[in-house]
Amino acid sequence: MNIRETLIQKATNVRPQAYAPYSNFAVGAALITHDGEIFTGVNFENASFGLTICAERNAIGTMVTAAQKSIKALAVATENGVSPCGACRQVMVEFAIDDYPIYIVNTTTGAVQETSVQQMLPLGFDSSQLPRDNG
Ligand code: THU
Repeated sequence: MNIRETLIQKATNVRPQAYAPYSNFAVGAALITHDGEIFTGVNFENASFGLTICAERNAIGTMVTAAQKSIKALAVATENGVSPCGACRQVMVEFAIDDYPIYIVNTTTGAVQETSVQQMLPLGFDSSQLPRDNG
């Protein structure tokens, strides 16, 4: 299986692990790093709603925990193929060495929309814009 199909399958398969008792909206994410490691994540909510963590940021946090920092591709799976929120887009940019593909999966129809991190956050803020090198 190629990277695209692998990520689509992993994001779809992890989605039922979501902890989403308030929204009932389960999201699964899977990413591969340039080292070829795959990490997955699901959204997990809280009774204090604003503490919710999206699936994409959960997968990225797991990647960082494993000392990985560069995303090669990412897939996000939902029942209706929604695209990543603004906060997640910003976090996705943080770990981009180059533009990379994003696969947006509709698990009901099987449709996959392919976009990229640059397309999702044009003119995004990144560390190169800081007045001094903090990276
Ligand atoms: N959610 C994600 O996990 N990723 C997204 O890209 C959009 C929204 C979650 C957050 C919350 O648990 C639920 O979906 C409804 O907003």
